[in-house]
Amino acid sequence: MEIQKQLKSHGAWVGKWTFILAATGSAVGLGNIWGFPYKAGTNGGGAFVLIYLGCIVIIGLPIMISEIIIGRRSGNSPINAMRKVAIDSGQTQAWQLVGWSGIFAGALILSFYSVIAGICLNYIFIAVSSSGAISASEEFGNVISSPINLLFWHTLFMVLTTLIVAAGVKDGIGRMVKILMPMLGFLMIFMVIYSIINGDFNRAMSFLFAPDFSNVTSDTVLQAMGQAFFSLSLGMGSIMAYGAYMPKNQDITSTSFTVASLDTLVAILAGLAIFPIIFAFNLEPGSGPGLVFVSMLSAFNQMQFGQLIGPIFFILLSVAALSSSISLLEPGVAYLSEEGILSRGQAAIAISFFVWVLGIGSALSFNVWSDFHLISEKNFLDSMDFLANQILLPLGGMLIAIFVGWFMKESLIKDEIGAINPVIYYLWRFFVRFIAPACVAYIFLSQIFDLNWIFDFYSG
Ligand code: TRP
Repeated sequence: MEIQKQLKSHGAWVGKWTFILAATGSAVGLGNIWGFPYKAGTNGGGAFVLIYLGCIVIIGLPIMISEIIIGRRSGNSPINAMRKVAIDSGQTQAWQLVGWSGIFAGALILSFYSVIAGICLNYIFIAVSSSGAISASEEFGNVISSPINLLFWHTLFMVLTTLIVAAGVKDGIGRMVKILMPMLGFLMIFMVIYSIINGDFNRAMSFLFAPDFSNVTSDTVLQAMGQAFFSLSLGMGSIMAYGAYMPKNQDITSTSFTVASLDTLVAILAGLAIFPIIFAFNLEPGSGPGLVFVSMLSAFNQMQFGQLIGPIFFILLSVAALSSSISLLEPGVAYLSEEGILSRGQAAIAISFFVWVLGIGSALSFNVWSDFHLISEKNFLDSMDFLANQILLPLGGMLIAIFVGWFMKESLIKDEIGAINPVIYYLWRFFVRFIAPACVAYIFLSQIFDLNWIFDFYSG
């Protein structure tokens, strides 16, 4: 019989809204405002949006509920949460590997997330002073070709993330999301209204909502699923860690529904803030990852008050990134501090340092290391992204769904879910047992059985 050691506690969220704000803060990030619009843009618009919405409902929501159930049941960080709940359900403690893989995935994601978020911080200042003297694509080229510049902003972003996480659940993360999230909501609404008034709103609406399925391929479906997963922060324990701090009397199902809806709303609003401007200035909606940096800056250069609206837009992006990055760091920090290995502050600094070093590789992949390929044809940043988002997250998400659906004791689940409509309960259970694992397995296997990258890897 395993003797459960006394783990340090982290405190809890104060009030019902703090969990919602923190989880929404985690979910809403670069994935929504930078990723979603450009992916919708390169995948033809409406059809992608529709498939994305479907993925949120049938895969995202059931897995989000599962993560919160495990987190709150244990009150611990993802590694110990998986271990404790597995033991309480009479299962092997090897399930804790899901927590380990999550912490590893979180570090990989944060390392490049911080480099891109650093570019967003940098753009706040670029947008203030940009006069259109050099083109927006030249400007972007200058930004990413300077290692020192990228490293400076990457460092600054990591320092901000570390400070918030080190300050703790209640005083750091909890307090910051209460400031950051209303600010985000306000800036978002401002940007959308501005775009509606000044941009080509009708074209943006038909681009985003009139589905044209003629160009949908299996790759579109894969991208939409991956995007839904990433956007809801699933598969690595961000939501599980936050769930551990959720008050016991809060309803998990309806809260998850609120968080997923807010996340989706922000992605759509980001589309409605960006595309009207893109179309009004005759820019290319399918221009890829540079969309918010190149196209939006070019639009800000041409518009009236662009030097005011531009910085507001990039502040919005940076705030969203910061409230997400803290959730990537939290699971590992919570683990080291609850085990008593390091204090919360030391743990935050130690993990951030590791992440910061890893991030240097991503910063350099834009310039001096651009010819260095780690996995197949992918540069350092794309390799980190591939490992985390195509391998570790789907694997983590699938195992979480399988654990809750097939291995966790049902009485424990019912304790956490509480009194809900039985139809919703059985629907959720059906999705967690069959649909979500099957869909995620499909994403996952299609990566593995696309064996080209392995061949490339071995042939150099
Ligand atoms: N969801 C965030 C975004 O859309 C990023 C993020 C935070 C994340 N925590 C995560 C992604 C955990 C995957 C897993 O930008």
